[in-house]
Amino acid sequence: MNRILAIETSCDDTCAAVLEGPRALSNIVSSQARLHARFGGIVPEVASRRHLELINPVIDAALEDSGGDLESVDAIAVTVKPGLIGALLVGVSTAKAIAAATRKPLIAVDHLQGHVAAAYLEPDPLEPPFLALIASGGHTLLAEVREAGTFAIAGQTLDDAAGEALDKAARLLGLGFPGGPAIQREAAEGDPEAFGMPVAMSRDGGLDFSFSGLKTALAYAVRDLGAEETRERRADLAASFQSAVVGQLVAKLGRALDAGDWDAVALGGGVAANALLRERARDLCDERGVRLKLLPFELCTDNAAMIGSAARFEPPVAHPDYLALDAAAR
Ligand code: KG4
Ligand code: ZN
Repeated sequence: MNRILAIETSCDDTCAAVLEGPRALSNIVSSQARLHARFGGIVPEVASRRHLELINPVIDAALEDSGGDLESVDAIAVTVKPGLIGALLVGVSTAKAIAAATRKPLIAVDHLQGHVAAAYLEPDPLEPPFLALIASGGHTLLAEVREAGTFAIAGQTLDDAAGEALDKAARLLGLGFPGGPAIQREAAEGDPEAFGMPVAMSRDGGLDFSFSGLKTALAYAVRDLGAEETRERRADLAASFQSAVVGQLVAKLGRALDAGDWDAVALGGGVAANALLRERARDLCDERGVRLKLLPFELCTDNAAMIGSAARFEPPVAHPDYLALDAAAR
């Protein structure tokens, strides 16, 4: 399977990419963030409808940027789970229609395998074994990757995802959506030690995460300060919150390194675009003498290149066997 057209619509980004092996020839992302911003979060039905409008032009742009056309593609890959069901269905139906009309095989991809497989993309691909910290708006987990195409979960969040916590915090602070980048910008002006945030899960020796207590602590701080003082101290609140989220992610990553014999770490998911997380992970990995693979921002947040990368390790399904294939929310 040489050339793959990959499609990703699991959340609020409409994405298509063309790959040749580990090389992305094109990678188009049409973000719906501004559309959802006025609601303060992603509205699933709005996302599905927008995917419908964007999917064909986004695929056309990915093919055009690749310098080829549908004829030059050997297989169609698509995210089938997990995600917003209506959003996933747009990508899956489109992929099935294109594959069936051209009699090409279809490759079903798991979104989380995609975030891990972003590490396999050129340039500077990382080969297993490695430990991956995937932190996004929907997931937060430590994945033990021993061979490409699979991983074992060493720890995961017991409640909110890290990105979800940042999005909720940004909303509490009136900073807009998506919250991660907004918190990062605001935090740049603030003191990370101004507000004591609870250090979640620090006493339990495991590798699971928890972010809901942090969100509650911020809600209480905002309530106690009142609207005006919250506005005045917003940078300090953002910096303290960001530092607590990143602190927990890095503490668990360190603990996972202690528990195993890893010599490489990859960060993935939208939160891996966070500057403080990248800096702290760099310090940790330097300290331990472990290689750290950081992705460019556009491969941290949702994209189809990572789906095409994961597709290389999944079996292609021949026409017409995939016509019954369904999307799944989880
Ligand atoms: O991977 P992604 O694009 O979508 C999901 O699969 O969820 O991740 C989106 C999440 C959002 O919660 C967003 O606030 C967060 O990633 N994010 C960031 C940054 N950029 C995006 N969080 C912290 N710092 C950033 N710079
Ligand atoms: Zn994602």
